[in-house]
Amino acid sequence: MATTNISMFLLPIVLLLIWVSPAALSCSPHEKKALLQIKQELGNPSKLSSWNASTDCCSWNGIQVECSNTKPYHVSQLELYGLDLPGPVNIPPSIFNLLDLEQLSLFEMPNLTGPIPSQITNLKKLQILYIFSTSVSGPIPDSLAQIKTLWSINLYGNNLSGTLPPSLPSLPTIHVIFLDNNRISGPIPDSYGSFASKNLVTLAMSHNLLSGKIPASLKGLDVYFLDLSWNRLEGDGSVLFGAEKSTEDIRLAGNLFSFDIGKVEFGRNISRLNLKHNRIYGKLPEGLTKLQHLTRLNVSYNQLCGPIPQGGRLQGYFPIDASSFASNKCLCGPPLPPCK
Ligand SMILES: *[C@@H]1O[C@H](CO)[C@@H](O)[C@H](O)[C@H]1NC(C)=O
Ligand SMILES: *[C@@H]1O[C@H](CO)[C@@H](O)[C@H](O)[C@H]1NC(C)=O
Ligand SMILES: *[C@@H]1O[C@H](CO)[C@@H](O)[C@H](O)[C@H]1NC(C)=O
Ligand SMILES: *[C@@H]1O[C@H](CO)[C@@H](O)[C@H](O)[C@H]1NC(C)=O
Ligand SMILES: *[C@@H]1O[C@H](CO)[C@@H](O)[C@H](O)[C@H]1NC(C)=O
Repeated sequence: MATTNISMFLLPIVLLLIWVSPAALSCSPHEKKALLQIKQELGNPSKLSSWNASTDCCSWNGIQVECSNTKPYHVSQLELYGLDLPGPVNIPPSIFNLLDLEQLSLFEMPNLTGPIPSQITNLKKLQILYIFSTSVSGPIPDSLAQIKTLWSINLYGNNLSGTLPPSLPSLPTIHVIFLDNNRISGPIPDSYGSFASKNLVTLAMSHNLLSGKIPASLKGLDVYFLDLSWNRLEGDGSVLFGAEKSTEDIRLAGNLFSFDIGKVEFGRNISRLNLKHNRIYGKLPEGLTKLQHLTRLNVSYNQLCGPIPQGGRLQGYFPIDASSFASNKCLCGPPLPPCK
């Protein structure tokens, strides 16, 4: 009797496990066709040898292809990385026939070249777009802003050029944007001061060729992590700060910013502040001593002057040391030599 009860209890669980297990999925014929075309467009890399017309594409190497787990099954994630491409290959156009993709990742493929095709806007459900450590070139398509579902855009370490697409800030739910280590040039558009998304946490664009004056509209930009370092940006970078901002990590190193740091009010949550190698002038404000979370600080190689404020974490909090303040016009006092 007890045995019967247990098996009656277990049976639905067993059935459920069979039902949700990947082996039970089956992908649509047109998606299988698109995937096999992608394999061919990439020159049949050996890592995709399990992509075989006689098997269910939802079972192909769980990592590269993921299908939705409710009917009708669709390819929802495609992740291709470190593939042995035979030579320079463009982003396979057949990717843009996988209309239910929510996540597309292409990375660590130096032989992946050519532009990001405009057909990317076919992917109307895309939430995550990762293309990094490739040789993909050309501009970031402004039409990306038509993919309203985008949540995270990670395009670092490619060969992208052209200017920043002015319409990206209209994406309603964007959280994260990484564009570092490309050849993106020109000014930051005014629109980057007013992102439609209330949840943007990261905007990182370091190691590009951005130039021109920082727009005053960036007073309205508030993110946890802002990285504009190693560009050619100039002008009044003080708009990036404010007592009301929630920024925790701000990196402006290696630009041509020129402003009076004495007038800057720092948000109290700042933990990393890297302003080195700019043309920032004035006296360091007392407010710096109030930053209780400060763990990294570097204002070296600027034109700062006057006594370093004493207190808070500015003295004796490793790794903040004399090198954090070095090579300025006339900064003095601990941890630098005493003022004359
Ligand atoms: C496809 O996979 C089946 C089963 O693993 C195998 O028998 C067949 O030879 C494969 N076909 C090709 C073209 O690789
Ligand atoms: C890239 O392509 C070249 C031929 O142009 C080839 O020799 C090389 O092995 C390829 N590299 C990778 C990582 O696929
Ligand atoms: C990047 O693009 C430039 C010009 O389009 C080209 O000369 C260069 O070889 C590319 N670099 C790489 C790593 O693909
Ligand atoms: C600082 O961080 C705390 C805790 O994470 C948070 O509650 C607070 O809103 C933040 N302050 C600002 C100005 O964003
Ligand atoms: C500050 O930056 C300078 C110049 O790049 C560097 O030499 C120094 O080690 C840095 N110091 C700290 C504490 O980060």
